[in-house]
Amino acid sequence: MTAASVNPIDVRRAQGYGRRLLSLLGAGKFPMVLGNDLAGVVTAVGSGVSAFRLGDRVYGTKPPSTDGTHASHVLVKAAHLLPAPPEGDLQALAALPYSFVTMWLAVRGAGLTPQNARGKSVLVLGAAGGLGTLALQMLSTWGATVAAIARPQDFPACREAGARVVIDSTGKPFASLSRTFDATLNFASWELDRLLLGCLHDGAFGHATTVHPLLGNFDELGWVRGALKTMSDKRSHRAALPKRVQNYHWTIFKPEAAALSELGKLVERRRIFLPMGPRVLLTDAAQGFDHVKTGRRGRVLILPDS
Ligand SMILES: NC(=O)c1ccc[n+]([C@@H]2O[C@H](COP(=O)([O-])OP(=O)(O)OC[C@H]3O[C@@H](n4cnc5c(N)ncnc54)[C@H](OP(=O)(O)O)[C@@H]3O)[C@@H](O)[C@H]2O)c1
Repeated sequence: MTAASVNPIDVRRAQGYGRRLLSLLGAGKFPMVLGNDLAGVVTAVGSGVSAFRLGDRVYGTKPPSTDGTHASHVLVKAAHLLPAPPEGDLQALAALPYSFVTMWLAVRGAGLTPQNARGKSVLVLGAAGGLGTLALQMLSTWGATVAAIARPQDFPACREAGARVVIDSTGKPFASLSRTFDATLNFASWELDRLLLGCLHDGAFGHATTVHPLLGNFDELGWVRGALKTMSDKRSHRAALPKRVQNYHWTIFKPEAAALSELGKLVERRRIFLPMGPRVLLTDAAQGFDHVKTGRRGRVLILPDS
């Protein structure tokens, strides 16, 4: 391993979040090694794998498990890896796959594609975060007109990532927004999800959120009441959609091949990157987790000890 990143989900899973539903994937019990993405050099290849050889520089993702990427060595499916460009910062690529794939799933869940996005207006909440920044970069590359809701100190970064309009998240951002958007993306707050739905016009593509109560409902309420509460939460938000809006999507990360393929293309074209935070050794991983817990800017990387 050359590096792995720390995402908000790692911090929450360390506190027990998601244990009930993730137990269905064998990923709910302590002790667990966290981490969903990686960059490194191939040191062994399974039989039947022809895409990679020993010594190849790679980056990629690993689905939630108790055997994650915050480790010195990681066993990963070849299908979940991409070849890294020969030049450039290999460590920094470890910040991208999990966030990019989740963001891509949300964008597609809202009904946007590279073919239909040109000229469409998209509103992004949480625009200065990891997923938000990647959405601004990808959607502006696809030709969409993106409006970013973020703190004023993050406006320059949002514009640099591709936002055409910036809206102050610290005031009352939704008070000034009319129902004109073709798609809305929530990377920040479940409590604000309905207000985003109110920004879609009739017949818009749709909405996706990566922040939803699915895992939390099952943790807090158990299997039966958790399932009932989840159905009711989803139904009530769907009912708040404007007329003829078809897509309402609760995004859940999975290592989607098409998303990884799009990431590979954008990395090759140098169109995708995230602001970096501290790089800490595996033995100092707690410092990296503190950085994420306190909401500081920049993706944290964990590097092997030697
Ligand atoms: N469902 C899944 O499978 C999945 C996968 C990956 C991520 N996620 C979730 O998706 C979310 C985004 O991930 P990320 O990696 O981009 O997180 P991140 O880097 O921490 O960014 C989150 C952003 O949301 C903003 N924000 C938070 N609360 C807000 C509020 N009430 N109003 C306005 N802005 C607010 C933050 O801005 P400030 O710092 O200015 O508050 C920050 O810019 C996280 O909650 C993460 O857990 C879900």
